[in-house]
Amino acid sequence: MYIRKAVIPVAGWGTRSLPATKNIPKEMLPIYNKPVVQYVVEEAIKGGIQDVVFVSNRDKKVIEDHFDYNGQLERILEASGKTELLKAVRDVAEMVNIISVRQKRALGLGHAVLCARDIVRGDDAFAIMLGDDLMFGMNPGIGQLLEVARSENKSVIGVVEVPQEEVKRYGIISGTEQAPGVFKVNSLVEKPEVSKAPSRMAIIGRYVLTPHIFDHLEKTGPGKGGEIQLTDALQGLADNQGLLAVKIRGMRFDAGNWAEYLTANIYFALQDPDLHDELVQRLKPLLPYAKEAEKIELPRKVE
Ligand code: UTP
Repeated sequence: MYIRKAVIPVAGWGTRSLPATKNIPKEMLPIYNKPVVQYVVEEAIKGGIQDVVFVSNRDKKVIEDHFDYNGQLERILEASGKTELLKAVRDVAEMVNIISVRQKRALGLGHAVLCARDIVRGDDAFAIMLGDDLMFGMNPGIGQLLEVARSENKSVIGVVEVPQEEVKRYGIISGTEQAPGVFKVNSLVEKPEVSKAPSRMAIIGRYVLTPHIFDHLEKTGPGKGGEIQLTDALQGLADNQGLLAVKIRGMRFDAGNWAEYLTANIYFALQDPDLHDELVQRLKPLLPYAKEAEKIELPRKVE
């Protein structure tokens, strides 16, 4: 199975992150010293993806610009001898091919993916990575799905087990385990009530799909919340072509959720040896029961 493109939809409104996202895309909010979306693109590259397709809109041009050269800034950094920073900003411009397509109206994640149809043309499978979902580890998120998609020659989605009370935030699957951590998907339901959830296996923002998904998306009308849901079209794929779910290992942060976003910031800042000790000293008095907090071991290294 040949897979070189990752579609990253970034055309949502980001209402959960308002007012921060009134004029700044949610995907451009920083996690320590990089915007959220840069972590997602770096994960794609680690997984061997060569082209990134942003599904964007008129207010999100700054995302594409982030992955382009900024000649004026580079000249200033060069003239002032700031070579490390110069390298950091050039590296971002050179990390991957960027293609952009517009979703002119935010009609839902399923519709956003459909907007990429002409770019993902052909028989190749492709990845979908949500621009606000962060995954870390030795072989992060999408890499684990690509492995299974290639070996099984099937569409694959990433899932994690969530607490019962959180099922209503996610698409939930029911499946049959066919190998450790790999499930054949039987049914999917978007944001179910706790009492109606078929399991606690929640779909997270990583998918590797065959182009059949576009045929199912074309037939998918508005679903939960009046939006065209990718989860609804995935049911068509599960019924007709087969769909696997893989339990994703490693760390995960939903950058659209403030508690997770802020934890990710602290986590990454703590990885910087120049910042670690000072940050720990400054955080401890902010935590209630500071005496207990003295005992908290804050992490130094990413896995
Ligand atoms: P979310 O529902 O998490 O994002 O969609 P949102 O709508 O931007 O945020 P909230 O819920 O209002 O805070 C998941 C991903 O799908 C994209 C979003 O940009 C996000 O990365 N998306 C969603 C689109 O590209 N288009 C849409 O119409 C909807």
